[in-house]
Amino acid sequence: MDEKIRIKIILGSVRQKRFGERPARWIEGQLKAWEGVDAELLDIKDYQLPWYDLPTSPKMLARKYPNEDVQRWADKLEEADAFIIISPEYNHGYPGQLKNAIDWTYPEWNRKPIGFVSYGSVSGARAVEQLREVVIELRGVPISRAIHIGQSITGKLAGNPNISNEELFAPLRDGSLGLDHLAVFMEDLLWMARALREARDKKA
Ligand SMILES: Cc1cc2nc3c(=O)[nH]c(=O)nc-3n(C[C@H](O)[C@H](O)[C@H](O)COP(=O)(O)O)c2cc1C
Repeated sequence: MDEKIRIKIILGSVRQKRFGERPARWIEGQLKAWEGVDAELLDIKDYQLPWYDLPTSPKMLARKYPNEDVQRWADKLEEADAFIIISPEYNHGYPGQLKNAIDWTYPEWNRKPIGFVSYGSVSGARAVEQLREVVIELRGVPISRAIHIGQSITGKLAGNPNISNEELFAPLRDGSLGLDHLAVFMEDLLWMARALREARDKKA
């Protein structure tokens, strides 16, 4: 039996009353029940990450970070076989806090796949395109399939703030938006995660 694929789900918004916690908790719940997956939600709000201010690139640090929270954050990323980044769109990009959290690290992402979940007026598509360019520089492997949460879903919250995550995100699974979006996304992410893990293990 194959070892489980360890997926770290990164919540990229730290804003008060952020929407991002909704899809993050929903994905976490779905993946906890996913066969062959060991999922953990990483909330960057739980790490007191200072602004990146070192005189050198993190590539030079050999995973020894000068700050306890940065080390804790990096150690969590290191455990991963794959990542899911959940990001809103801020000014046609992604949040600065997410970039700072990414910039503290580097080897932890190397040769691992990264999938994206986004939301916003065009379902966060512009933020995801920018993030794909960023993770390539980390020698990460962005996957093509993504989960873009549209206003047909986010708009439902305004009229019904107490709606459960199961009901809110049901269209992403039940085929009413054309297909089971989470299933096709996970198929892509897991295929890449297994292939890359095998290749990393062979090299080690
Ligand atoms: C600083 C800021 C800039 C934003 N810029 C955009 C934008 O360019 N495009 C967009 O679709 N939504 C934009 N929005 C709306 C956000 O996508 C929306 O508020 C979303 O809920 C933010 O995610 P969060 O609640 O998880 O932080 C912006 C929101 C903020 C706070």
